[in-house]
Amino acid sequence: MNNLQTIIEDLKHSYDKNKIQQAAKIIKSGDVVAFPTETVYGLGADALNPHAVKKIFAVKGRPSDNPLILHVSNIKQIYPLVSYFPEEYKQLMTALWPGPLTLLFKKSEKVPTITTGGLNTVAIRIPNNPIALKLIEEAQTPIAAPSANLSGKPSATNAKRVYEDFQGKIPLILDGGKTKIGVESTVLNIVIDPPTILRPGGITYETLKQYLPNITILKSVDPKIRTSPTSPGLKYKHYSPNTRLILVHGDKATQETFINREIIRLDKAKIAVLCLHNEHVHKRAESVILVGEDKKEIQKNLFECLRKLDDEDCTMAYVESVEEEKEGLAIMNRLYKASYEIVYLDS
Ligand code: TXA
Ligand code: MG
Repeated sequence: MNNLQTIIEDLKHSYDKNKIQQAAKIIKSGDVVAFPTETVYGLGADALNPHAVKKIFAVKGRPSDNPLILHVSNIKQIYPLVSYFPEEYKQLMTALWPGPLTLLFKKSEKVPTITTGGLNTVAIRIPNNPIALKLIEEAQTPIAAPSANLSGKPSATNAKRVYEDFQGKIPLILDGGKTKIGVESTVLNIVIDPPTILRPGGITYETLKQYLPNITILKSVDPKIRTSPTSPGLKYKHYSPNTRLILVHGDKATQETFINREIIRLDKAKIAVLCLHNEHVHKRAESVILVGEDKKEIQKNLFECLRKLDDEDCTMAYVESVEEEKEGLAIMNRLYKASYEIVYLDS
């Protein structure tokens, strides 16, 4: 599968139907194509073709027991994929789809077990991106797609980063520009009661609670009841830059003082700071990367900034923290997993 020529089709400014049809043909033929969604880029293949799905796991280096999300373009497409359709959640689907929400269903025979990592549930979402939706329609099949990054690396939010990871390994990348949301979809288990967030993401807990008053968050990702914050349900290494990243947990002023003191203490080391508040306070750092000034912006730029760390020639990096509410829950979830070490200044 190596040393293919990887073509990047530029769809940033013009929506070219022919190029999407060409991508759909590749999917139908059982191969893999990278495409944009509103969250992050996906590495897509025909979800119902086990050989095609196997290629996703191979090029990504993904453990075979980690299930994939199926992307469909309308609710009707879901019925054949599930053994039971929970009509009571249809209002939620209609309200929040297309969008960054993935729901778990009981799977039907039609979905190969390789796609669901051997589980009897299947994760499905309708992405909110015109290129993704057109690609699914043209391929006439649900598209299984994990985030388009090598296993363990930060997800890719633009075509350049997809190319960095999969150059020579996949035939085509559809370039739809920078993704709008920046973190992956929220994964919600509606097969169990109460409905439970398995992965915080693009749709916040606060938004979901308006539709599902009894919703809960999986213990290992819930900041209120998490018992060992250094390993929030970590099964695999995730989102990690090569640069050693230290997450600093505490209120804004304490974080800034701590980081600045460390930079002075570690005098000779080249230290980068991923800044979530005010970039001007870290004057002595080798490199200061402002991720964003509000949570939506931080969420949008987070993965790209984690990748930028590896473009810099720094020994290590500090990253600040934000409160774990609204978008902050997904942001901190990714940072806990990305970091090598966490420093708690508030406990
Ligand atoms: O925004 C997204 O969700 C992106 C875009 C491309 O749609 N996709 C994505 O896929 O993030 P991936 O494979 O990187 O993450 C899928 C997550 C994993 O944590 C996986 O374990 C979980 O969804 N998942 C998938 N199927 C599941 C299932 N049947 N039961 C429990 N978790 C499941
Ligand atoms: Mg992923």
